[in-house]
Amino acid sequence: MAKGNLAAGTADFMLWAERGQEFLASLQMRVNEPSKERQMRDFRMKEVLALTGLKHHAWRSWIAANIPGPAGEVRLTLEQVHQFMSDHDRRPSRPEGAEPIRLGVATLKGGAAKTITCLHLAHAFAIQGYRVLLIDGDPQGTLTNLCGIRSETVAPENTLAAVFDRVDSPDLFDVPALHPQKTHIDGLDFIPATLQMINSDFTIGAAFMNPRNRTVAQRFYTVLDDELKRVEKDYDIILMDTSPSFSYVGLSLMWAAHGLVIPMQPSLPDYRATLDFAQMFGENMGYIEQAARVTREWNPVAVVHTRVDNSPKAEQTTELVRRFSVNTFFEHRLDVHIPHSQAVISSTSQFRSVYEMKGGEVRKVRDSFDALANRVLAAIHDVWGSQVNAAPETVAAP
Ligand SMILES: Nc1ncnc2c1ncn2[C@@H]1O[C@H](COP(=O)(O)OP(=O)(O)O)[C@@H](O)[C@H]1O
Ligand SMILES: [Mg+2]
Repeated sequence: MAKGNLAAGTADFMLWAERGQEFLASLQMRVNEPSKERQMRDFRMKEVLALTGLKHHAWRSWIAANIPGPAGEVRLTLEQVHQFMSDHDRRPSRPEGAEPIRLGVATLKGGAAKTITCLHLAHAFAIQGYRVLLIDGDPQGTLTNLCGIRSETVAPENTLAAVFDRVDSPDLFDVPALHPQKTHIDGLDFIPATLQMINSDFTIGAAFMNPRNRTVAQRFYTVLDDELKRVEKDYDIILMDTSPSFSYVGLSLMWAAHGLVIPMQPSLPDYRATLDFAQMFGENMGYIEQAARVTREWNPVAVVHTRVDNSPKAEQTTELVRRFSVNTFFEHRLDVHIPHSQAVISSTSQFRSVYEMKGGEVRKVRDSFDALANRVLAAIHDVWGSQVNAAPETVAAP
């Protein structure tokens, strides 16, 4: 049966893509049954009280007043959880006078868990009650698929491409380009990605060659920043997933970010790749600083160990890399880490985060993501605190 010949023409490649997309489409339909629409799971009393820090009596009286029927086994939708928070003055948000914070999840290594980290932070923040905008900045659209949208069905004008494609049609700058869509998770909005976003890089490159658009092209790194300003007032936290590249689009995302989460598996090749990322980031952002005549800081910047193998046989390398990381990044390397977890693999095989899953198996890794989210939130509140206390200036004068 086995033939030696493995020849393939372009038509075969196209066929593989088409055939595989059909498999994925039907899988996605199946996991979204029975309603076809994505739905967030319900929340029990214990989880709601843990989230809000409120006591039984608050729950009992709120349920009696708001939810008809027997109070025994009541479960709330996330929307109701957020209403419960608001009614008790417990829904968190950025303080008055503080700016929405944009966090990019970035590193040079594919498979570092950027997308998984971005998705889980977004879900953790939204469940806690923050208003979150999640942006898929990777043309591969992994995050988009995990959000229940098939990226190949997304029109480029509904993605970040809408922002960057203006670099060669500057007359469009008056019209808002970003249109966040609601998700099945209350408090979480989304901007998806599609493969055609790759063209944005050629568009920007071409604009540099065109004398009419060269000035705009030279300021390509500002266009996303400007567009985000138009929509971000409705949010507390903006999370941006990135592709592992220093493309024009990648650079714009990193420039638009206020803070960075850098996931890293504790292995030597991944440690090396993180150093390469640090160097590339420093160099490239340095060029933009010179062009823009500003000196900036990113805050918070956090290196997070992800996909950590806690088994005894991995201990030696893990320990070595942890030591290197601490002595490289100091306090930027967070103490909390995300373990390698079957629950992550099985929930993402159903295009869901572990926050969307019921049942005990996801509990442990969900606790790890919660710990990470809370550590990042502490750093975010630090930033917000200093914004409220300081005069409103973010960048140094030229
Ligand atoms: N904590 C984890 N445990 C197990 N598998 C994980 C974990 N985090 C990520 N993965 C898996 O690793 C792969 C790469 O993750 P992903 O977030 O897509 O990486 P990146 O965006 O950096 O390329 C995915 O298949 C994902 O399911
Ligand atoms: Mg990714």
